[in-house]
Amino acid sequence: MSCTSQRTVTINAAFLREIKLDHLELTRLLSQTETLFSQGVPSWTEKRKAFDLLAKVRDRLAMHFSLEEAYGYMEDALEVAPRLTGRAFSLRAQHSELYRCIAALSEFSEDLVSRNTQRDDLKKLSVQVTGFLERLRAHESAENELILEALDDDVGVGD
Ligand SMILES: [Fe+2]
Repeated sequence: MSCTSQRTVTINAAFLREIKLDHLELTRLLSQTETLFSQGVPSWTEKRKAFDLLAKVRDRLAMHFSLEEAYGYMEDALEVAPRLTGRAFSLRAQHSELYRCIAALSEFSEDLVSRNTQRDDLKKLSVQVTGFLERLRAHESAENELILEALDDDVGVGD
């Protein structure tokens, strides 16, 4: 029997399966959104498409953030690397900000569908969606970095 305490990041199979499916769907929707808005201002005929897509991204992100929070992967990571707590909490706090932002964009695009849209409105939507996608990418990348750092601490890289 070993008397050394060993803390490890536990990997839950159900969590991994759910996360994988969620990730594939989210990636697909974000890629479609990026394609639609990367050509600059969407055309008038694409207003409905933009609204449908942004509504799907909003709903998928709600699911994505819930999964991340419900399965508590952050807690597991922080148990082995408490020094990362501040960063983890600020990343988690970004979920509600990001959700509010995509909900507002979805609402704005719905508004554009139902009224006589000006080109400036479509341009404003395009700029805001592009900025949102950048913030979301930065958030996801910071979370991945944090988890990798916790795993490094767990396996004692450099020891
Ligand atoms: Fe997240």
